[in-house]
Amino acid sequence: RPLDINIELPDEQSAQKLKIGISFATWWALNVVFNIYNKKVLNAFPYPWLTSTLSLACGSLMMLVSWASRIAEAPKTDLDFWKTLFPVAVAHTIGHVAATVSMSKVAVSFTHIIKSGEPAFSVLVSRFFLGETFPLPVYLSLLPIIGGCALAAVTELNFNMIGFMGAMISNLAFVFRNIFSKKGMKGKSVSGMNYYACLSMMSLLILTPFAIAVEGPKMWAAGWENAVSQIGPNFVWWVVAQSVFYHLYNQVSYMSLDQISPLTFSIGNTMKRISVIVASIIIFHTPVQPVNALGAAIAILGTFLYSQAKM
Ligand code: 3PG
Repeated sequence: RPLDINIELPDEQSAQKLKIGISFATWWALNVVFNIYNKKVLNAFPYPWLTSTLSLACGSLMMLVSWASRIAEAPKTDLDFWKTLFPVAVAHTIGHVAATVSMSKVAVSFTHIIKSGEPAFSVLVSRFFLGETFPLPVYLSLLPIIGGCALAAVTELNFNMIGFMGAMISNLAFVFRNIFSKKGMKGKSVSGMNYYACLSMMSLLILTPFAIAVEGPKMWAAGWENAVSQIGPNFVWWVVAQSVFYHLYNQVSYMSLDQISPLTFSIGNTMKRISVIVASIIIFHTPVQPVNALGAAIAILGTFLYSQAKM
C-alpha cells in the first residue's frame, strides 16, 4: 500500500517561505500607508465614524465590482454562513470603529502600542470566558506586555482617555472576532479574500445606522467644507486612499491567514505594529520621551516572548 504522506521538497519549502514573506511585506506596507492617510484625514476631518464606514463601503464596492467583472470568483454562501458571520461582523465593526475613534484622539503610534497588547487580551478572554488554561510561561509573558503598555500610557505626552479606551476596546473586540471567526471558518470553503469581503459588507450594514446616529450628515457636511478649505480639493483623494488601503491590507492579511497558523499570523501582526509605530513617529514628528519608547519596546518584546511561550 503506498504511503499516504506528503513530503515537501526543500525547493517547495523555500518557495512557500518566499510567498509568505512577500505577503507579510505587502501587508505591512499597505497597513503603513493606511495608517498615515487615515491620520491625515482624521486631523483635518475628525469624524471617525464616517471614515470607518467609508473604509468598509469602499472595500465592499471593490469586491462587488471584482465579482461582477469576474476578476474574482464570487463565493457560494448560504444562510448558515451569514448567520455564523454575524457575531464576527459585530466584533469587527466594534474593533474597527473603536480603533479609528482612538486614532482621532491620540497619536497613531500610541494607539498601536496599546494594540500590541492584544495577546494579553486573548489569553485573559480564553482563560475567563472559555476556561482554557495555558502553561506558566504564557502567563509570565503577559507581565511585560501589560507592564510595557502601562508604562507607555502613563508617560504618553498627549494622553487622552477616549484614545486609550478606544484602543483597549478594539483589542477586546478583535479577540472575540478571532474566536468567533475560528468557529465560523471551520469546514467552510470560502477563501480568505471572499471571507473578508463578506465581513466588510455585513459590517457596513451594521455600522451605517450607528454612524448616522452618532455623527450624521449635518456634521459631515460642515466638517467636509472645513477640511476642503484647509487642504484643498485633493482632500477627497486622501479619503479614497485611506479607504482603499484599509481594504487592501485587510484583504492581504486574510489571504495570508489561509496559508499560515494563527500564531505565525500574530507574530506578523506585532511586526506590522512596529513598522507603523516607527513610520508614524517619523512622518508625524510625534514627540517621544525615552521612558515612553522603553514602555513600547517592553510591550513589544513581551508579545514576542508570548509567541515563543505559545510555541
Ligand atoms: C481598524 O481601523 O480596524 C484598525 O486600525 C485595525 O487595526 P489592526 O488591523 O491593525 O488591528
